[in-house]
Amino acid sequence: MKIAVFISGRGSNLQALIEGCQSGEVPAEIGLVVSNRPGAQGLKRAAAAGIATAVIDHTTYDSRESFDAALDAATQRAGCDFICLAGFMRILTEDFVRSWRDRMLNIHPALLPAFPGINCHARAIEMGVRITGCTVHFCRPELDNGPIVTQAAVPVLPDDTEETLAARILEAEHVIYPMAVKLIAEGRVRVINEKVRIMDGAYPEREKLISPVAG
Ligand code: GAR
Repeated sequence: MKIAVFISGRGSNLQALIEGCQSGEVPAEIGLVVSNRPGAQGLKRAAAAGIATAVIDHTTYDSRESFDAALDAATQRAGCDFICLAGFMRILTEDFVRSWRDRMLNIHPALLPAFPGINCHARAIEMGVRITGCTVHFCRPELDNGPIVTQAAVPVLPDDTEETLAARILEAEHVIYPMAVKLIAEGRVRVINEKVRIMDGAYPEREKLISPVAG
């Protein structure tokens, strides 16, 4: 499996994927990192790991369709057959998402289907939920929607701010994103009736899927 990772900023999930692939834990290769922002920190992480990068700046395209066509062309040119969205903050067109059906993952910092969209940490605190978390899912055209591959539950503590909660969830993201890609790269994931089934036995380290940070 050859992956294109799409980012917009910091790239800490990209880093977790790079380390997973480089250590051999995830049997896949990252062939390209694409950022829609020229200054994204994740571009430096990719370069440091010797991975090809491309900047496809959405502000230089006059439509979502032409921007997505450029993303698609770069991905194909790099020989990638799978896409991981890792903090990529652009909404993709329905056509693009359909053409990468079951070959594109997203990570979202909430327990979907709760809190899709932006500001999910602030909304979780505002709603007073005790447990939130993160989700890796296949993409469907509706935002933050699609069959769930891995999730981790993370507690919301009484004194949490948006920042402290986001940091706690991020640690769990770095566990469940490589885990999801590993399962897929090993050929153990099937999407049946819009639900993910893990073949050949149980989830790996099942208990860790519940609050891996508390581990
Ligand atoms: C992560 O928390 C990721 O879940 C979130 O952006 C952050 C990117 O951090 N993604 C979304 O909110 C997408 N809906 P990173 O650049 O350090 O990986």
